[in-house]
Amino acid sequence: MLVLGIESTCDETACAVVRNGRSILSNIVASQIDLHQEYGGVVPELACRRHIDLIIPVIDQALSEAQVHLKDIDLIAVAYGPGLIGALLIGLSAAKAMALSMQKPFIGINHVEAHLYAALMSQTEEVQFPCLGVVISGGHTAMVLMKKLGDYELIGQTVDDAIGEAFDKVAKLLGLPYPGGPQIERLALKGNAHRYPFKAGQVKGKPLDFSFSGLKTAVLYTLRGKSSHELQIEPFSEQDRCDIAASFQRAALEDVVKKTLIAAEQFKTQTLVLGGGVTNNEYLRGLFAHECQGKQRLIWPSFGLSLDNAAMIAGLGYYRYQIQGNGDSMDLEPLVRIPFNQAPP
Ligand code: KG4
Ligand code: ZN
Repeated sequence: MLVLGIESTCDETACAVVRNGRSILSNIVASQIDLHQEYGGVVPELACRRHIDLIIPVIDQALSEAQVHLKDIDLIAVAYGPGLIGALLIGLSAAKAMALSMQKPFIGINHVEAHLYAALMSQTEEVQFPCLGVVISGGHTAMVLMKKLGDYELIGQTVDDAIGEAFDKVAKLLGLPYPGGPQIERLALKGNAHRYPFKAGQVKGKPLDFSFSGLKTAVLYTLRGKSSHELQIEPFSEQDRCDIAASFQRAALEDVVKKTLIAAEQFKTQTLVLGGGVTNNEYLRGLFAHECQGKQRLIWPSFGLSLDNAAMIAGLGYYRYQIQGNGDSMDLEPLVRIPFNQAPP
């Protein structure tokens, strides 16, 4: 079965062609980083306009790289949320229009679920469920008990900033360009991660929830002092900035590892499935590898599938179509938020 996937939830316009849920024939991602960099974050209105310009060329390119025609496609899968409403509308409308005109089924995919599927997609060895899913991206931070594909229970999530968002905001405070995650990681390589005693937040009564906004504020106070309104980037040496980046990164990522391992013990899972852009971080991969030796199997997304992409949407679309037994109706609306608890139909 050939599935065409479309992704436009935030600032990537992406299209991919995937055979039978796994074999990637093309995976085109048009990033908008250049557009949003001067603002230090995604500007929704600009993102939407860029999606409109790029969606058709990106679809054309995905088809031509896969060396298939639209008429060869059996199913169209599209991320219908969570994300920016205007951005979602563009991908969803394109998918509906193609499905209608070609008389093909189409299916709406939860972008966060697809980040978890991205890791599974790269696996050649069989995966034993239940697994613990951990999504750490620019827009989402969530832990999910994966009973099997399509059957999930949300067990923890952020109550304020997503972890990638915290990386991006701290990077901005340090005068680094967007997206901040890779920049912080680069600076942190030269820094002392224990110089500043930063800590991620704990949520009262919810030990598996996350909170990163206090951590971000602690960095802000370190940079400007509690009383001043101006950031004082100058008095800090290059080494100070590296130490701040390293200490922030340690605090944020140790918190993810700690809570993940508590959850794995509580829910008696032995496989961790990780997804989202922050999984690119080598310090995080090292922490998990060190803490999990022999105790947990770690499943990371392969290169090209960690950041937003449409191959994960097409891949999951194939499985969702089998689970549902049919496509979605043309009434499907984009959703800014999607509750993650999902049982099979
Ligand atoms: O999964 P993704 O493409 O977008 C969302 O679905 O939100 O993730 C993008 C996020 C950005 O916040 C970016 O700063 C972060 O992933 N990121 C990283 C690294 N690479 C990307 N964060 C920390 N370390 C990295 N190496
Ligand atoms: Zn994403």
